[in-house]
Amino acid sequence: MTTNPGPNALQRARTILRQKLESLHRSGVQQITRLPQAAIPIVQEVAIVTEPPPDPSPAPEGAPREIPHVAAPVRLAEPAKPGSIPAVVAAPLVPATPLASAPSLTRDQRISALSVLRKEVALCRRCAELAEKRTQTVFGAGNPQPRLCFLGEAPGADEDRQGEPFVGAAGQLLNKIIAACTLKREDVFILNVLKCRPPGNRTPLPDEVANCRTFFERQLEILQPEFICCLGAVAAQTLLRSTRPVGQLRGKFHDYRGIRVVVTYHPSYLLRAPEMKRHTWDDMKMLMQAMGIPLPTS
Ligand code: URA
Repeated sequence: MTTNPGPNALQRARTILRQKLESLHRSGVQQITRLPQAAIPIVQEVAIVTEPPPDPSPAPEGAPREIPHVAAPVRLAEPAKPGSIPAVVAAPLVPATPLASAPSLTRDQRISALSVLRKEVALCRRCAELAEKRTQTVFGAGNPQPRLCFLGEAPGADEDRQGEPFVGAAGQLLNKIIAACTLKREDVFILNVLKCRPPGNRTPLPDEVANCRTFFERQLEILQPEFICCLGAVAAQTLLRSTRPVGQLRGKFHDYRGIRVVVTYHPSYLLRAPEMKRHTWDDMKMLMQAMGIPLPTS
């Protein structure tokens, strides 16, 4: 049985909500993302051990990043339970906050947060056409504690069928690129900007990218990589909020919330233009050097 709240209860709820919004605004929040009801998680508080702050002197180039410990609890999303009160704030509110200074999550916390987010992604129907035509969503795969993430564009036909990113022809080339960096696929995490296959592998539409942005941003918040390698223009322009082509973005490091970002050509493009592979190899060497990975001698 449901009972209607009286006018006093509604007034109280309005006052509490207004105070909460004013407080968020004072702390710098400009915008709150409204998630579809089915996608709104509740929030679980997880205590984090407090340790003294790390030495503030800058780490040498290429050295592993120190992840500071903070007293604040980490907020992990859980799927909404029927009848539960959803958290007003589920998506990251201030995307500009450096991830490098966020509290570090343990491996188990990451696995659990990724599993919650994966379920949320699987339920998403924000892009009606993509949700209608997909076989399944493609969340991403790999090491939950990666130093490096590869960000691609969107699943293709093979990925849509298998539910894994980069498993088709472009994936075979990406595997070779990863191996050339003396890494294994299991060392890194691979994800895409879109979690659904655009029909006919067309370029994602701006609305689709906007709808899906929160998912890869939240994945990166959980994964906390030191490095991101953007594969192709859609990944690079979306992550860096740039309109510049890959040719202008590659060859140097960019910043995404304190994470060092490398841009290179998409493996699908390299399959069509193999003469560009040497540029990608240059980009990978730059990345390896920054990661402290020895370059092959030959
Ligand atoms: N191309 C992408 O950008 N991502 C994939 O997962 C596969 C192909």
